[in-house]
Parts: sequence; C-alpha cells; structure tokens
Amino acid sequence: MNVNPLAGALGAELSGVNLSQTLSPEVREEMLDALHQHLVIFIRDQELTCAQHHAFAGNFGPQIEHPFTKGLDEWPEIIEIIRSPGEAYSWDSKFHSDLMFLEEPPMGASLYAVEVPPYGGDTMFVNMYLAYETLSDGMKKLLSGLRAINHSGSPANYATPGAMTGKQGEAMEASHPVVRTHPATGRKALFVSPGFTRRFEGMTDEESRPLLDFLCGHALRPEFSCRFRWSPGAVAVWDNRVSLHRAVPDFFGEVDRYRRVMHRVTIGGDRPV
Ligand code: SIN
Repeated sequence: MNVNPLAGALGAELSGVNLSQTLSPEVREEMLDALHQHLVIFIRDQELTCAQHHAFAGNFGPQIEHPFTKGLDEWPEIIEIIRSPGEAYSWDSKFHSDLMFLEEPPMGASLYAVEVPPYGGDTMFVNMYLAYETLSDGMKKLLSGLRAINHSGSPANYATPGAMTGKQGEAMEASHPVVRTHPATGRKALFVSPGFTRRFEGMTDEESRPLLDFLCGHALRPEFSCRFRWSPGAVAVWDNRVSLHRAVPDFFGEVDRYRRVMHRVTIGGDRPV
C-alpha cells in the first residue's frame, strides 16, 4: 500500500488496496496507522456494493444509524447524501465534526462517491490537533477544564426537499470537553465547531460567542486544512475526533446541472475525554 500526503496539515491518498475485499489484519493495521497519522485517508477507483462499503467501514468500528437522516431501506446505517441539479445545497455545508451533539459522537465515517460532478463539490477537512497546538500557553490554560454544549439544531435540517428523508425526533445536545485527548495517539485536539457548538457550559450564548468565534476562526485557517477533489468511486475515511469537515457547495454555472450522490457510513465512537 502506498501513502501519499495530500497537504502539509492533514490528508493522504492511499493506493494499492481493494476495499471490496476483506482486508488482511496487516492492511487494516496499516490503514489505521495512516488514519491516525493523517486524520483523513482517501482511496480512489473503488467499486463497492452497499454490502462491501458497509463491511469496509466496519474495520474502523461499529456502523451506526444517523439519528435524523433516514438510511437506505436495506442498509439503515448508510445514508445517501444527494444534491440534485439546481438545488440550493444545505446539507453539511458548515464545518463540523459529525454528530457532536451525541453523548458518544462517532469516531469517524466512510464517504463513498457514487456520482459526482466533473468538478466542484469538493470536501474540505481541518486538523484540530494543529488548531489546539498553535494556541498560546495562556489560551490552552484557559481552555483546560472548559466544556461546551453542542446542539443538533432542528432535526428538519437533516433532510432535503426532494431527495433526503428525515426521521422524527427531538433536537439533541451534549456537553463535551473543549479540548479532548485522542485515545490512540494521546495528542490533544480542539473540539468545537461552527456547525454545532453553541456555548460554554455555565455561560450564556452571548458570553460564549467572542471566544467561540475566535476558536472557530483560528481552527479554520487555510494552513490547517486540505481539500479533496472527488472522482467516481473515491472513498474518504476521516477521524471525526480530531478533524472537522464540510462539503463545498460551489455549484455555479455549468456544474449546477450535475447530481452529486455520496454514501456515508457513520462509525460509532466513545465519550470524549
Ligand atoms: C458529510 O459531512 O458527512 C458529507 C460531506 C460531503 O458531502 O462532502
């Protein structure tokens, strides 16, 4: 297996693996190492059935259902993220770590490109270790022990008018440490996002906003990011504990007439510490 870094901050393309087959323990270990080192790994030119994609994601942990977006009938843990031609794209277009409003947010996800436009509709990722490590000692001290409330927003936001079906449910929130430690690497990472973090525990939204705005603005510096251009059959797996991501809805002009269809399997995780 070859591992080619994509950017200075995070991301690596892997080649020489066939994800439709059961991975040997050695290859699985190499992939996990690459994920821990690069935070998001990309593997192009795969041809996966739903069963094969589901099984591949299971190498990283248990596949879980999305609380608000309905999965495929036969594969409830696979959600189909569809952007139809001409549609105002609203799903996942703010930087976030998936499902931060759960008590045990996912450790990661596997995203498979079923149908993608010839250009446009990339996905961006951010390294939250770097976001933490580049803060001053004073700021690190201020953040240690702080917790933040992460809120789902309206469950209706997890469906789209024509394509993606939502599930009934109440909005959810969870309190998590603002700085979390990765269980395998032992490194600390910032754990807030513009998508979900509302306030610090014990403070109002207004009191929290200036510091949250600073932290999110700092984390989203371009030098902490990478951007992946999709091709049909490409797969991305990200470590959701220490990275943020978002889709880029740049469907301007000609590219607006294309559909974009992605299959995502969410991988269960632990309570952040
Ligand atoms: C996601 O946020 O899970 C999907 C991102 C994308 O569609 O690029």
